[in-house]
Amino acid sequence: MSHEISPLDEAAIESAVAAALTAIRGAGTLGELKDARLAHTGDHAPLTLANRAIGKLAKEDKATAGKLLGRARGRLQQSIQARQRELEALAAEQMLREETVDVTVPATRIPYGSRHPLSTLIDDISDLFVSMGWEIAEGPELEHEWFNFDALNFGPDHPARQMQDTFFVEGGEENHLVLRTHTSPVQARALLERDLPVYIACPGKVFRTDALDASHTPVFHQVEGLAVDKGITMAHLKGTLDHFARVMFGPEARARLRPSFFPFTEPSAEMDLWFPQKKGGAGWIEWGGCGMVNPHVLTACGIDPEEYSGFAFGMGLERTLMLRHGIPDMHDIVEGDIRFSSQFGTTSLGRGI
Ligand code: FA5
Ligand code: MG
Repeated sequence: MSHEISPLDEAAIESAVAAALTAIRGAGTLGELKDARLAHTGDHAPLTLANRAIGKLAKEDKATAGKLLGRARGRLQQSIQARQRELEALAAEQMLREETVDVTVPATRIPYGSRHPLSTLIDDISDLFVSMGWEIAEGPELEHEWFNFDALNFGPDHPARQMQDTFFVEGGEENHLVLRTHTSPVQARALLERDLPVYIACPGKVFRTDALDASHTPVFHQVEGLAVDKGITMAHLKGTLDHFARVMFGPEARARLRPSFFPFTEPSAEMDLWFPQKKGGAGWIEWGGCGMVNPHVLTACGIDPEEYSGFAFGMGLERTLMLRHGIPDMHDIVEGDIRFSSQFGTTSLGRGI
């Protein structure tokens, strides 16, 4: 393209400028613009060569040619700079578009779970006993028959051993394993494992072949209490239960003992709770069983009943929860509907401890 242009040929200069401007404005990328710049303003471009040829002109023509070519080169520089800015802006915009990260969050909400009120109740009861200096004990849910029955003075023919109450497990007959029917086996475990005196509370899961109805479930929870020390009397049991009742159910609550029978306590009692909020008016409600630890149990655990005595109690936690919150039907507690659990705050016990 480099045919010579005379530095004085205004029309030729103008058409070279027009060609250059077309190329510059038509550049679609910074690379194309660079090519256009080199072609029209580089060392071998017609206007550059014409500029160089000024030196050979007659003195009086130099100024005219210099002005012509200077203006032409000025227009090209301006146009190149303008196109350069446009293309840089376009490139930046494109980079932004390509590298955009979509930070909008999808609008589907995942519902929060909610703590089961029974778990909160277990924590609160544990806190209450720990605050009295007791320890929290545990035992296995799949329990040896000896701990579940024999150590607790259940005779070999006691009806609770029969199929209608106890879940026996496959192979359990040879291994003597059952799903524990109450938390009382932890009494024997604690007495064998720990040094005296023993003050333990054991909340835990228990199993019975009861059908699910408004006040029974085959899998439920109990809290066991056991105190064995020198000089323990039934007055200590009564005082502990009254305190427990007040912390659970408010300052008016108290416990009442009614004679009853358990093989592992002597004497034994059913404990009732004075319940001011009872439907149809304040009254007594059955809460659990208790008594003085049977000397046979102490002996089975290697403790001299002449030197030590103790009390024990055990109550159902689902029943406790129903009483505390006026829940009329046990189904609600066991069915795991989030709408039930979410009605309870994270802690259920605001008073007393
Ligand atoms: C016992 O289980 C004794 N181990 C309690 C005990 C401990 C007595 C220490 C003496 C010393 P009982 O079988 O009565 O006792 O059960 C105690 C409580 O468990 C009942 O009062 C009731 O609140 C609860 N309970 C019993 N069966 C069920 C069930 N199927 N569903 C829900 N709660 C139940
Ligand atoms: Mg009972």
